[in-house]
Amino acid sequence: MPLFYRWTTVILPCLVAALLAGSGCEKQSTAPKKSAPKYQPITAPLDPFAVNQRLAKSVNFGNALEAPNEGEWGLTLEARYFQLLDEAGFSGIRLPVRWSTHAQNASPYTISPAFFDRIDWAVEQALDRGMAIVINMHHYEEIFTDPPSHKERFLGMWRQIAEHYKEYPADLLFEPLNEPNTNLTSPLWNQYLAEVIAVIRESNPYRTIVIGPVDWNSYASLNKLVLPAGENNLIITFHYYNPFHFTHQGASWASGSDAWLGTTWGSAADMTTLQNELEVARNWARTNNRPLFMGEFGAFNKADMNSRKLWTEAVARQAENRAMSWGYWEFGSGFAIYNLSKNEWYLPLLKALIP
Ligand code: GLC
Repeated sequence: MPLFYRWTTVILPCLVAALLAGSGCEKQSTAPKKSAPKYQPITAPLDPFAVNQRLAKSVNFGNALEAPNEGEWGLTLEARYFQLLDEAGFSGIRLPVRWSTHAQNASPYTISPAFFDRIDWAVEQALDRGMAIVINMHHYEEIFTDPPSHKERFLGMWRQIAEHYKEYPADLLFEPLNEPNTNLTSPLWNQYLAEVIAVIRESNPYRTIVIGPVDWNSYASLNKLVLPAGENNLIITFHYYNPFHFTHQGASWASGSDAWLGTTWGSAADMTTLQNELEVARNWARTNNRPLFMGEFGAFNKADMNSRKLWTEAVARQAENRAMSWGYWEFGSGFAIYNLSKNEWYLPLLKALIP
């Protein structure tokens, strides 16, 4: 600001005001300013098939925020990772989140404000780039072992998450629970999913919710889902890691997986099996008139790159052909499409996803 202008418009009036009213110059600038809200909240019902298209080509930021604490599994999110995905042509992100290590154990199960800040940051990294983002609840292992003892905490955490994000736009989706398994059997899960949807609907009448079946979100268990009558704003998710001995060869958390090392993929029979299995999912979706999100699929880095490329390409195309959106597992760890130490894409995998 030129000095003369500043003198006449700011300093002089300020001195006069101070002399007349005994007020300080600092009061000049404290008039409340109304800032425009950053996002447009959802104000009308959504078509979940349209919302699902926003997730058409997504990537999971696995091994970051679903570690007990971010960084403990080798990945700390950075803004440039969101930028890389956006520039590469991905439309959405699935953000696995372990809330259970950041919330009190007793009612009201308060989630740490610092953790919420971190999730807000990640959500906004996606939204501000025009990408959709699904936040889930990942690795709540205790609820799989002893569901009844953890149901209230599960619902209590979602009550807070839903309230916290109620003003966020339609490109933010909630996925209440990753891969229900073990003692969270289908009769129980069908009951819990109805209850968690009701809790979310208290504050988010229009947000799209992502729900998957038991048995680690297996496509083969879609037919065990019982969804609340009249609840249309859902996207149904399943995970696809078949053949498991190919995708999980040498994975430390899959017992016996060293014996599977050397398994390749790409025969005509492999392709037929893939098509038949995805067809089961499509048939379920058609019969039930629901949009489908293949929220995880990927092959671990111990498999040979050529087979991984062929598998990734085939699974993505076969899903697209059946109107499914997808989320590759994952960005920068054991299934990575991006090499964090070299700062470069694994190009065969990137091209397999986005030709
Ligand atoms: C599931 C698990 C995750 C694992 C991935 C691939 O999402 O929760 O920990 O890395 O599947 O096995």
